[in-house]
Amino acid sequence: MKVAVVYGTEHKGSTYNIVQLFLKKLENEVSEVSEFFLPRDMSHFCRGCAQCFMKSENSCPDYEQVSKIREGMEKADLLIFTSPVYAYHASGQMKTLLDHFAYQWMVHRPNKTMFKKIGLVITTAAGAGMRKTHTDIIDSLSYWGVGKIFRLGRGVASINWDGVKKENKEKIEREVDRMSSKIISASKNVTPGPKVRILFYLMRFAQRKGGFNPADNNYWKEQGWLEGVRPW
Ligand SMILES: Cc1cc2nc3c(=O)[nH]c(=O)nc-3n(C[C@H](O)[C@H](O)[C@H](O)COP(=O)(O)O)c2cc1C
Repeated sequence: MKVAVVYGTEHKGSTYNIVQLFLKKLENEVSEVSEFFLPRDMSHFCRGCAQCFMKSENSCPDYEQVSKIREGMEKADLLIFTSPVYAYHASGQMKTLLDHFAYQWMVHRPNKTMFKKIGLVITTAAGAGMRKTHTDIIDSLSYWGVGKIFRLGRGVASINWDGVKKENKEKIEREVDRMSSKIISASKNVTPGPKVRILFYLMRFAQRKGGFNPADNNYWKEQGWLEGVRPW
């Protein structure tokens, strides 16, 4: 299994350490890990030029950074997205990254490799806000078409990993063990669940009516999705 990790912070704290627990647990299954740290690997805000929607993602002024992350994600079977909770939501740098991938929402030009991938979203908070932070990230992953999505959220009552109590770390390790087994068994055959399929058919309906812009509509036609071909 190939893994791409997008860290929603450069701080190597609790969230980072939980990812390392997963990577250790999955090491016998994993052949390659690509890691992207934010904002290091996506250091620009979206400028709103909408060239990605109207023309091509290659026309994005931040194409160089976007394409490196896209290539890393494309070759991965497991996408791990992480963010600490900041002010009850995902970090600003994670939102900035997701903005750059709005063009691959199903309403526009979904990347067909996503439908066979597993997503794992990891968040930590001092106390609260994991649900909204998960939603911030899972909204994008679902609308990209990611086949199966796992989530782990944990209140750590700390601002770094050293401050997390031993009992809490043990609980986290047990949760990582359980979820890793589920990920391994899910990885044998990933097909998208009902939510992704319903979204795909709704978007297909819109594209059959002409879609929202020619770039998107041509893309759907080229993929054969308006006929019998499916991305899964
Ligand atoms: C700017 C900022 C905002 C935060 N906002 C929240 C919050 O809304 N709710 C909360 O419970 N913890 C909040 N925290 C605490 C972090 O979410 C928590 O310490 C987290 O585990 C840090 O992850 P890390 O160690 O991977 O950096 C905030 C921390 C920072 C630096």
